[in-house]
Amino acid sequence: MRVSVLNGPNLNLLGQREPEVYGRTTLAEIEAMVRQAAREHEVELDWFQTNHEGALVDAVQRLKGQADGALINAASLTHTSLALRDALLAVQVPFVELHLSNIFARESERHHSVIADLAIGVVTGFGAQSYLLALQALVGRLRAA
Ligand code: DQA
Repeated sequence: MRVSVLNGPNLNLLGQREPEVYGRTTLAEIEAMVRQAAREHEVELDWFQTNHEGALVDAVQRLKGQADGALINAASLTHTSLALRDALLAVQVPFVELHLSNIFARESERHHSVIADLAIGVVTGFGAQSYLLALQALVGRLRAA
């Protein structure tokens, strides 16, 4: 089973960026945790981060034929990007949306996701653990299918 993890803008700054909101774990540390969990689940993992909307759209387009499912933390693009939504509609690859912070406990602009209704489900608010919970949920769903 192949799973891609797609990370959007500013997530490369985790660890330094608003630690009271996002915690002190860096993206590289999260990647290491997720790779370890993926090995335990016998899942092949691909990891990607970009600060650019078009690059995230390209990465979603590449999912077709390349991944059985995806974990997506689209960061701020979650709330704004119809291009991202359209790409997800085009590829029809099952995915879990995830966030470190609880987007519903934050500013009202963050309460809406333009991709959540396309997702299998959404994991939000568990810090770095959100990635592990999302992986477990995705793998469980793919294996049940
Ligand atoms: C985020 C939440 C978004 O609202 C924000 O723009 C991010 C990170 C999270 O993981 O909590 O950059 O996706």
